[in-house]
Amino acid sequence: MTLRRLELSIERLSKSGDGVAEVAGRAVFVPGTVPGDRVLAEVFEQGKAVRGEVLEVLSPGPGRRSPICPLADRCGGCDWMHLTEDTQHEHKRHIVVSALEHLGGLGPDAYELLPFVFSPMPYNSRRRAVLHPVKGRLGFFGKRSHTHVEVDLCPALTPPLESLPGELADALGTALKDVDEVHLLEVGGQISFALMAKGALRPKHREAAQALIRDELVSGVVLVPGAGKGAPELHGAAVLEDDGVLYRPDAFAQANADVNRPLVEHAVAALEAGPDDSVLELYSGNGNFTFPLAAAAASVLAVESSTVSLGLAQQGARKLGFTNIRFVEGDCEKFAKGLVKESKRFDRILLDPPRTGAPGIGEWASRLLAARVVYVACDPAALARDAADLVAHGFVPRTVRLFDLFPQTRHIEVVMSFSREGAGGARPSS
Ligand SMILES: C[S@@+](CC[C@H](N)C(=O)[O-])C[C@H]1O[C@@H](n2cnc3c(N)ncnc32)[C@H](O)[C@@H]1O
Repeated sequence: MTLRRLELSIERLSKSGDGVAEVAGRAVFVPGTVPGDRVLAEVFEQGKAVRGEVLEVLSPGPGRRSPICPLADRCGGCDWMHLTEDTQHEHKRHIVVSALEHLGGLGPDAYELLPFVFSPMPYNSRRRAVLHPVKGRLGFFGKRSHTHVEVDLCPALTPPLESLPGELADALGTALKDVDEVHLLEVGGQISFALMAKGALRPKHREAAQALIRDELVSGVVLVPGAGKGAPELHGAAVLEDDGVLYRPDAFAQANADVNRPLVEHAVAALEAGPDDSVLELYSGNGNFTFPLAAAAASVLAVESSTVSLGLAQQGARKLGFTNIRFVEGDCEKFAKGLVKESKRFDRILLDPPRTGAPGIGEWASRLLAARVVYVACDPAALARDAADLVAHGFVPRTVRLFDLFPQTRHIEVVMSFSREGAGGARPSS
């Protein structure tokens, strides 16, 4: 690793959110910078990449501002707090359009880019967070590191959660000692959190949970023992509810409630499922999309691998009185292959995979004869690869829409819709 001190002009942002300068034809990745910045940086080689660490901002680019959080330069939670919202939006748009073009072979003329849905709250918008014990306190991962940064107050979290990291650390005290992670969740003003123990649950974990509920710091707690050490224990009101959808802190939840509503509305509308249509929903979680889909379509087959999420979805469906949803616990890829083998067909497919995407989606969707596919993506690169696969199997891109579920970060949620003309007719011979 050779160190050099250089003045750099930041030209663009990389897809991982770092500023990029060119030096002797090589890209230098400089975290914490914005296009237009002129900085003095320590430049070094790291593996095949060249990186820079800012020593001084000599002249700021037009999109730069002072972060409101004093931990912004160290904490890994928010990597774009030093960018104005307009700049964040412009670059998120660029990241998605460029991934679709360069990884998916789909230029901007191949689809309609619908208006960006911004978060009404640029701060105080995240309703869930994963914290780690750090020297008796709680913290997030540091920037580009596996060390933790102690956090007492976090302006990215919703108001009920904002000061909870410090308050929980005070209240949990020594109960934090045998804990791997603490998962926070806020729904409709109520707080539930999960304590993920390293091994078996201990009396001190139960006593701490009960005390926090009694003192009304939280509504409920899920105590999750380490692998092979028993089942999770629910204390107080650990399951929270919003509009019939049930949530637990040890299961997935979309991070921004205000943006989740238009996200669900748009994805369901884009699927254009009518009262005679059968829907296959992959990666269905706690039923976030499942219930509005079931209200619009004849039937929904919802597939999800997490026992906890699936249980919440089944409970929610019963409470809401849906009788046209079939739930399956399992791996989506294996299950979809099985459906293809059985020559099943579906009019519509909605999928919301994790960052790894849904390898094989083109094959399944075409063999299942779906006329519409709506893909909800948290990783633009995975979306671009899967979109190319869908196109290779005869699907035509229709719309792309961005939802800012994660303000102050480089992350972006995208909904892309596809149609396949002639689908729903005779089964193709191959
Ligand atoms: C991005 S979340 C979406 C959940 C839900 N659609 C929502 O809006 O809350 C992805 C979901 O896929 C599930 N999952 C991850 N890998 C899976 C797999 N191979 N098969 C089935 N489900 C999987 C996760 O448990 C998680 O609930």
